[in-house]
Amino acid sequence: MVFPKFSVVAVAALLGLGTLTVFAQDAFVAPATPEEALTLRKGLMREDGGILRQAGNLTGDPAVAAMTKLRDNYKHIPDLFPEGSIVGDSEALPAIWENWDAFIAIADAGVAAAESGITAAQAGDAAAYAAALQTIGGTCGQCHQQFRS
Ligand code: HEC
Repeated sequence: MVFPKFSVVAVAALLGLGTLTVFAQDAFVAPATPEEALTLRKGLMREDGGILRQAGNLTGDPAVAAMTKLRDNYKHIPDLFPEGSIVGDSEALPAIWENWDAFIAIADAGVAAAESGITAAQAGDAAAYAAALQTIGGTCGQCHQQFRS
């Protein structure tokens, strides 16, 4: 994956790292309705995409924060897909609930990769950090291929 070259300041601004404490806090509230679930999951997925696009250029605390956000968003995936939440313009496939364990296994793999990414970023291990990012990126495509129309 080729990451665009941004200045550190620009990357920090893009990620909202000016408010690092807010960024690191996870104020997730599980959705109460299918419509809410749809809006929430679209928002979190788009956020994950933005983080992935920038995270390759990060080191240190911003890298830890990016990986923490990805981990937290991935942990919420089960809550974001309540059964019966194919509503509106949803691209979710019924296969999600027919193969729930496989669906969750992909999300769990992303959580595990993000955990190792946090450890790698804390240790300054650029190779392990890049590997974790690549694994997380792989889970996006893997899940979309099976579970998104
Ligand atoms: C465990 C499964 C799973 C994983 C992992 C996953 N996605 Fe998704 N994603 C979905 C499904 C299902 C939808 C369709 C949701 C809907 O429309 O109801 C979706 C939708 C999206 C959308 C469209 C949002 C919109 O506004 O319509 C984007 C963008 C996206 N995902 C990005 C990502 C990125 C980036 C990653 C990896 C960091 C990722 N997703 C990981 C299952 C997954």
